Amino acid sequence: MSPVEKSMRLQSLPRYLFAELERKRHEAESAGREVFDLSIGDPDLPTPGFILDRIEQHARDPRNHRYPTSAGMREARAGIAAWFQERFQAVVDPIQETAMLLGSKEGIGHFPLAVLNPGDEALVPDPGYPVYTAGVVFAGAKPVRFPLRESSGFVPDPRELDKLVTAHTRLVFVNYPNNPTGAVAPHSFYEELVAWAARRNLIVVSDAAYSELYYSEPPRSILSVPGARDRSIEFHSFSKTFNMTGWRIGFAVGAPSLVEALVQFKANVDSGAPQAIQLAAAEGLKSLGVHGPALRGVYRERRDLALDTLRRLGCPIRTPGGAFYLWGRVPEKETSMEFVTRVFDKTGVLLTPGTGFGAEGEGYFRIALTSSADSLRRALQKLETLAPWKAPHASPSPIAR
Ligand SMILES: Cc1ncc(COP(=O)(O)O)c(C=O)c1O
Repeated sequence: MSPVEKSMRLQSLPRYLFAELERKRHEAESAGREVFDLSIGDPDLPTPGFILDRIEQHARDPRNHRYPTSAGMREARAGIAAWFQERFQAVVDPIQETAMLLGSKEGIGHFPLAVLNPGDEALVPDPGYPVYTAGVVFAGAKPVRFPLRESSGFVPDPRELDKLVTAHTRLVFVNYPNNPTGAVAPHSFYEELVAWAARRNLIVVSDAAYSELYYSEPPRSILSVPGARDRSIEFHSFSKTFNMTGWRIGFAVGAPSLVEALVQFKANVDSGAPQAIQLAAAEGLKSLGVHGPALRGVYRERRDLALDTLRRLGCPIRTPGGAFYLWGRVPEKETSMEFVTRVFDKTGVLLTPGTGFGAEGEGYFRIALTSSADSLRRALQKLETLAPWKAPHASPSPIAR
């Protein structure tokens, strides 16, 4: 027996579905085959110059060369509070109600460890971003999955969620604009969710990593709902908004007790985000009025290009309301994994099987719109030659909420 055995919590995480696809991808690349990777949600576009200039300037200031604080810099958090008020009409206290993060993933993954105990239960969306489950499992708590169904726009009904609540349920995760479905929640959703969570005395964790990537109405923050402030925490990211995945910077906004618990946890495991990056990112928010529409324009063009081809090929697919993903149906009689494997073997186009996001993702695949329009176009041409759906789908897809 190996002297090193993984912890039971690590071992109990859902199997890593992508290992086989990664192996195939590696094999194909080593054999000199061209791979069109539409699987990873990592923007191809560079971080804007106005942020890089600020990073450079702040990096040269020796005050930013020392340990940061776990909660983040006052100046950066003041910038976040100002943006929050302007963008969401929600007044937040920068010191008590915000914290800087090493990317929103870090906060989302750590938050359950700050508030859950072994035996507690947390409601997590299926399909959903896998980090919700991982954080809950690492905390020794139990993830209880709730389905996001296409028939209800991939938005849960609190009355359905209520059926899953037990004496052990402590919190619920929601994520809009949604990864992987691209759904945006209607305005009334947060009101209903918060009212229900208050009745059940639950914490609401809202993952708003894609809040600035939308195709029609700007999504709202859960913190703009009266009563949400007592029991909610919302996670935001600079990764998608400013093509900053590599810089690792995000923030949390929410109830003082929840933010404080997260910061106390973080103080034990990390020493905060690099200060030059905190400052530059927070200052970047002031340029969102110009940068945001341009960025959304890029994704809109890619989205429409891909939707047009996929629909022509007969793929049943909804128009996403936000984020940079397309969530389509695989051909009947094929599983998500079979479909994705076949497409990759025949064309070199790498898609994500829906089951990578939970059992409810069976029957779906995800495309990330994070490669250039040119390589997206070439990947779509490859799909056209394969025409995996064959018979065209008759009914037009409804517009996603
Ligand atoms: C739904 C969702 N939340 C959070 C994140 C984490 O983003 P980051 O840690 O880069 O802020 C991602 C990244 O893909 C995501 O898809």
